Amino acid sequence: MDQSIKGTAADWIEVGRVEDIPRQGSRIVKTGRGDIALFRTVADEVFALEDRCPHGGGPLSQGIVHGARVTCPLHSWVIDLASGEAVGPDEGCAGHCPVRVVGGVVHLGLMAFKEGCGHE
Ligand code: FES
Repeated sequence: MDQSIKGTAADWIEVGRVEDIPRQGSRIVKTGRGDIALFRTVADEVFALEDRCPHGGGPLSQGIVHGARVTCPLHSWVIDLASGEAVGPDEGCAGHCPVRVVGGVVHLGLMAFKEGCGHE
């Protein structure tokens, strides 16, 4: 289920409730930065990645969530949900931004969106 959000990227943005995201699945939020995939782990942690695999742009939202990682549906790169980084031996990084959950409501920190791997 898609949800369009409005407003600037300057603040935390409410994007729905944790239970709106399937466990070990994802849900897309459309933002000014493009589609962001919210992932929910089996432990109910929520992470946000750009819905674009760093390998070939595959839709990470359609990947399989295992632990705090997602496997891209196209060529099976494994991406760490917290950092957006590909797990070795592959190298690359999906855009990612912080998420906080307050009273079961998911907030996206688009103001801190990171395009790359952040260890330059
Ligand atoms: S596009 Fe994701 S592994 Fe190739």
